[in-house]
Amino acid sequence: MGQNERKMKVLIVEDDTFSRQYMSSLVRLGDYEVLEARDGAEGLLMFETHAPDLIFSDISMPIMDGLEMLERIRRKSHDTIVVMTTAFGNPEFTLKALRLRANDYLVKPVIPKDIIANLKKYAAVLAARSVEREVIGFILERYLKLSLDNRLEVLGIVADRLMQETEGHILPADRMGVRLGLLEIIINAIEHGNLGITYCDKTAAIESKSIDLGDLVAQRTSQEPYRSRRVQIQFQMNAEMCEWVITDEGEGFDWRSVPDPNDPANLMSMHGRGILLARLNFDEVLFLERGNKVVLRKKLIQPG
Ligand SMILES: Nc1ncnc2c1ncn2[C@@H]1O[C@H](COP(=O)(O)OP(=O)(O)OP(=O)(O)O)[C@@H](O)[C@H]1O
Ligand SMILES: [Mg+2]
Repeated sequence: MGQNERKMKVLIVEDDTFSRQYMSSLVRLGDYEVLEARDGAEGLLMFETHAPDLIFSDISMPIMDGLEMLERIRRKSHDTIVVMTTAFGNPEFTLKALRLRANDYLVKPVIPKDIIANLKKYAAVLAARSVEREVIGFILERYLKLSLDNRLEVLGIVADRLMQETEGHILPADRMGVRLGLLEIIINAIEHGNLGITYCDKTAAIESKSIDLGDLVAQRTSQEPYRSRRVQIQFQMNAEMCEWVITDEGEGFDWRSVPDPNDPANLMSMHGRGILLARLNFDEVLFLERGNKVVLRKKLIQPG
């Protein structure tokens, strides 16, 4: 964290005292500022008075539930990252929350490593966000090509650079979703594509006590053939839409068998959220070639 940056402010909204305190203790490990609320009404009040950067919220709570709180928060802010924490077996609510523009979800019981990894991801996104300068919104056509090595820690900045190109052209309400969706697909290109970490490798690393996903990533980034692989990002914008083509040098995957995001039963696994979040935030998500090339499209705000 740079010297001028303040700590990320995290609000935890959860009626169950034990779960709330447990989440708080996990967030505190990461040196973030923590706020707590016991139900949606209290959560909303805390949101209004403290303007948190990130909210973890339960869905079913007394007085005001997480969905209603989310709906009310979204009337006022599209920039606060909201992550729903949902009990196993409540997938319909999760889907509803995503449609109400929650940015992500976690399935309870939460795994400490998973929370910590997610906090780092959001903190990187928030720290890299530059002030939007609507003034360059008059440029109608743009093209940008980036080539990246496999450093996951710079992706918050990469996502910010990509978002700068779209200033004034993507609705404010959609921008955080697009930013996070881009991030997920670029993470996949590195993690699964270039570094060849499979779904099963990832599950094992999340569940293992002896190895972290971070260790696995570090190992592979120093080894051939993984090390010299690159991710190419081509961005272009015309009068109708923005398009990002993200290509990695990995083996690809059977993208036809990626679970259908509209089937709530698929929302309950530990990971497998990245593609789903992208699908919810772009107008089109296409996999080309062997699955190592992803095309993301977003329609633009039309003048008038
Ligand atoms: N570029 C890619 N190359 C190879 N496999 C990929 C690629 N992108 C996605 N996959 C496969 O698709 C699966 C689902 O990806 P998705 O991003 O939805 O979830 P995840 O990466 O497993 O977990 P997370 O929720 O942390 O993103 C991955 O586990 C991986 O097997
Ligand atoms: Mg992913």
